[in-house]
Amino acid sequence: MVDTTHIVFFSPTHTSAKIARAIGDGIGMERRIETDLTLDESITPIEIKNALTIIAVPVYAGRVAPIALQRIRRLKGENAPVVLVAVYGNRDYEDALVELRDETTRLGFTPLAAGAFIGEHSYSRPGMPVAEGRPDANDLQIAEQFGKDCLKKLKNSEAPADFFIKGNVPYRYVAPSTPAAPLCTEECFACGECIEICPTHAIYLNQEGKIETEIAKCIKCCACVKECPNGARIFDTPYTPMLHEKCAARREPELFL
Ligand SMILES: Cc1cc2nc3c(=O)[nH]c(=O)nc-3n(C[C@H](O)[C@H](O)[C@H](O)COP(=O)(O)O)c2cc1C
Ligand code: SF4
Ligand code: SF4
Repeated sequence: MVDTTHIVFFSPTHTSAKIARAIGDGIGMERRIETDLTLDESITPIEIKNALTIIAVPVYAGRVAPIALQRIRRLKGENAPVVLVAVYGNRDYEDALVELRDETTRLGFTPLAAGAFIGEHSYSRPGMPVAEGRPDANDLQIAEQFGKDCLKKLKNSEAPADFFIKGNVPYRYVAPSTPAAPLCTEECFACGECIEICPTHAIYLNQEGKIETEIAKCIKCCACVKECPNGARIFDTPYTPMLHEKCAARREPELFL
């Protein structure tokens, strides 16, 4: 008997979390558990049974963000039905949803439905926006309705049937990327906020009390850039103008159930 909604996400810039919560609102079960894996490096297993589970992850390079994949491997789904959610920055999600389906099946979940949603791109900047402000009210309303439809599907089917999810196997090849990290400018007043919110704990204060970043640990999520209260962190990448120019046309959520 499924009596709980269990919301799981990895979400450095909060867009995957917003979508996951809106789907949870739509499902509307009284008992609701939230597991935020963004800052959680523990490997202690999390067993999930009798819960309609939502797993939401960002898309990096058309695949599930590798660190999100790593973090969700703690989950043990004891046949729990799962709603798969990939959130991408208005370029494309390519094979992320099929990859998430395959991984969660290996972890013991039973996929029930899947959705690709749009979130403001990690590389979006003031003056050069990419999907700025997404998910917006319309996206969240679609997510909430999707949650309702997922619950309906669960109630109407003894064992969820196979359903189509867009994407390919083998998954898109992703070449190793050049290590890089945001720069810290003179505007930094060493408040430590970025240290707290970095999902890989790549940022630290050096002996002179200055902010440093361990480049090898940085996943370029841009959480520190977006959260710095003084706009002191800058990630200068040629992708920003390219995405701003080529991915301006609004994309809409795609749902599979
Ligand atoms: C390294 C990296 C690669 C990304 N690759 C893609 C991509 O292939 N397609 C896309 O549309 N967005 C891509 N994005 C943007 C994120 O998917 C998007 O901003 C998402 O909303 C971030 O989720 P979060 O807010 O939960 O962290 C990428 C972001 C980063 C940091
Ligand atoms: S959040 Fe900004 S101001 Fe605070 S320590 Fe980090 S870079 Fe400096
Ligand atoms: S240092 Fe890198 S990994 Fe850490 S928050 Fe900033 S962009 Fe993300």
